[in-house]
Amino acid sequence: MSNFIQECLAVLQEPDPALKAKLALSLEYDCDHELVPVATIPDKPARPKHIKDVQPGKVSKRKWGSEKGRLALLHAVAHIELNAIDLAFDMIVRFSCTEPISANWNREFCKDWLLIGQEEAKHFGLISNLLTKRGMQYGDLAVHGGMWDAAINTKDRVDARLAIAPLVLEARGLDVTPPMIKKMKQAGDIEAANILEIIYEEEIGHVAMGVKWFERVCSVLKVEPTEHFKFMVSERFTAPLKPPFNIEARSKAGMQSEFYS
Ligand SMILES: [Fe+2]
Ligand SMILES: [Fe+2]
Repeated sequence: MSNFIQECLAVLQEPDPALKAKLALSLEYDCDHELVPVATIPDKPARPKHIKDVQPGKVSKRKWGSEKGRLALLHAVAHIELNAIDLAFDMIVRFSCTEPISANWNREFCKDWLLIGQEEAKHFGLISNLLTKRGMQYGDLAVHGGMWDAAINTKDRVDARLAIAPLVLEARGLDVTPPMIKKMKQAGDIEAANILEIIYEEEIGHVAMGVKWFERVCSVLKVEPTEHFKFMVSERFTAPLKPPFNIEARSKAGMQSEFYS
């Protein structure tokens, strides 16, 4: 019997982004798998050595009007998707065998986050293939070095991780992606716009999954979800939540306005 947690750990440990995505997509989970916690969980997922991390203000400017600017923007999206793969597998490795998840829910938890991790791997593949077609590889530009900070700030509690990863960061993705799609279309880049539309639709499901698990955990902790969410954000997130919010997409994901008002 193989240990599914170990298989998910291998995704985190794979430094090559394309191989990481491929490995994520190759995983299957069924009732023959064991779930045995692993002894050591890395704080950070593996990354290729040649990729240059810089502070947010130092990444390439992303101007819409030029092909170069749009490529820089797509490169930034690829970086977000790569981190999203790792966030999904880190969720499984770190939290699926830990109370309050482990009792009755761990198998469902693993299935849900595997599905998300595989959708993120697909998103990464779509964007990096587009970059390749246009003469660029993921890693050719410097990337935002602080993107994993939120994961480190929430590595000790599943309620904190659920509040910050899907309900702050991925929900923020729902706010910013439609204007990005609009600008790509205005620039005549229909291919990029179509890929962003696929990502946008699937990200609604990721936020919905975050709401589902956050509410379940809150029910065990006997706390009110919207209040607890606000508490977690104040404790674990460095910046205030930024409007404008995409109310339609957020409510489609089951995230009521009380979470962010
Ligand atoms: Fe994604
Ligand atoms: Fe996502």
